[in-house]
Amino acid sequence: MIDLFAGQGRYADGEARVSGSPLVYLEQIARVGSKLKTNGICIHLFLVEKKPKNYDLLKNNVAEFMETHPEVKEIVDVKLMQGDCNSPDVWSEISSLPLARKTPLFMLIDPTGFQIHRQTMDRLVAVGAAKDILFNYMVSGVKRAQGIASKPEEQLTQRELTTLTTYVRFLGKDVRLDEDAESPQEYASAVFGSRGYYVVAYDMDYPGRVGTLYYLLFVTKNKKIADMARVMFGAAKKQNYDGQLRLGDTEQFTAEITFIAPDGAA
Ligand SMILES: C[S@@+](CC[C@H](N)C(=O)[O-])C[C@H]1O[C@@H](n2cnc3c(N)ncnc32)[C@H](O)[C@@H]1O
Repeated sequence: MIDLFAGQGRYADGEARVSGSPLVYLEQIARVGSKLKTNGICIHLFLVEKKPKNYDLLKNNVAEFMETHPEVKEIVDVKLMQGDCNSPDVWSEISSLPLARKTPLFMLIDPTGFQIHRQTMDRLVAVGAAKDILFNYMVSGVKRAQGIASKPEEQLTQRELTTLTTYVRFLGKDVRLDEDAESPQEYASAVFGSRGYYVVAYDMDYPGRVGTLYYLLFVTKNKKIADMARVMFGAAKKQNYDGQLRLGDTEQFTAEITFIAPDGAA
């Protein structure tokens, strides 16, 4: 498992402590630990976090979990790295993972904006393993980048130029920065669809107002798994942000979930 934007591991929510993605994996692994051990399965968990403060918290939170769950140490090998997930150091670590064509590999890519470069994404997609990817495609900021792109270049401030450069580095040169870029369709087809992947997109609403905050893209080569993800996303759509049920049946919501088939597939 690879988590390129791992965060702090745990967060405080009032009195409660909420687990972030790295702790969610460890808790799930601990839950089925004896089954994994019986079947001789070992899980490699590679966690990357750029911000030193978040990295230190992550390191402590993972260490605390391992101390309180010593049985997990036999099944999981956790590697933490502080740095930019687009850096050569991270890439060299990924390249050295013991992966074969059929090794199951789950990747979580959960940036807050456009921090993942298209070149990094292309490399990840090309890794030889049986991959499923969950990618958070942030919509916020896209409109701003489009506004900046429509201005004459000589009028742009340094900050605007930096935003544009970051955004183009995210999209890649073959995905256009026009009004359609707000939908992940073109990006998903270029990055995943062209390489034989199905993409199922969950459009997460803003809390309490109309509009999409981000798209959660589930990416897989396995059509059956893609169909299952679509049904799960459809069932989740039946609920509003505040947990209230919407009118309409699950099939209807499932049919509305964006589903992108790989090039040449139905
Ligand atoms: C949305 S949070 C991740 C939350 C995490 N998945 C969870 O469930 O707790 C994004 C994290 O990525 C980190 N980050 C930002 N840019 C990064 C980069 N280029 N490489 C690695 N981590 C980065 C941020 O410091 C932040 O902690």
